[in-house]
Amino acid sequence: MSSQAVRLVVLVSGSGTNLQSLLDAAADPAYGAEIVAVGADRDGIEGLARAERAGVPVFVERLADHPARDDWDRALAARIAAHRPDLVVCAGFMKILGAPTISAFPVLNTHPALLPAFPGAHGVRDALAYGVRVTGCTVMLADAGVDTGPIIAQEAVPVLDGDDEAALHERIKTVERGLLVGVVGRMAREGWTVTGRTFRFGRSGR
Ligand code: GRF
Repeated sequence: MSSQAVRLVVLVSGSGTNLQSLLDAAADPAYGAEIVAVGADRDGIEGLARAERAGVPVFVERLADHPARDDWDRALAARIAAHRPDLVVCAGFMKILGAPTISAFPVLNTHPALLPAFPGAHGVRDALAYGVRVTGCTVMLADAGVDTGPIIAQEAVPVLDGDDEAALHERIKTVERGLLVGVVGRMAREGWTVTGRTFRFGRSGR
């Protein structure tokens, strides 16, 4: 890996197909980013196995192992900081990050709906229940809220007659993986600025 590559810590809670797409993309030095560690809030998930197969260091910080949420927030931030990331990517990480992480690093998140519609843990289910004909995915910066940070990129996915949550989520994830890989690569290669809620690729005139 190039010493110039942007250092990513990726956080996962599940199957890790978004992580896998990032691992595959980062295998090319021209991508501009390298995954220096993968963290999780639970053991025994395929996301961690994917990292281990790729030879990437992993860590697990379980909420249940701490007396209070604040302690977990601080412990997780310390585990992340140990890998000196330039950017933290939540790729299906199903916990809200606390101030110790959000204030220390730029954090990217991905969500399987077109925000600000259907935030939260059940974006696909909620969109289906509402009866929308178009949903999609959003890549955004994380802030202290639930899926409320500045939006970076979005892509639409049609809802098809007969879709159930699993089928729709799989079609969204196919699009989401490409969107996430594209955004992370551009952030690594081009830098970015944020003014209020407006995200732009490219460095400012600093
Ligand atoms: C993604 O759709 C993500 O947006 C959502 O959970 C899914 C994670 O999938 N929060 P995977 O673990 O990357 O396969």
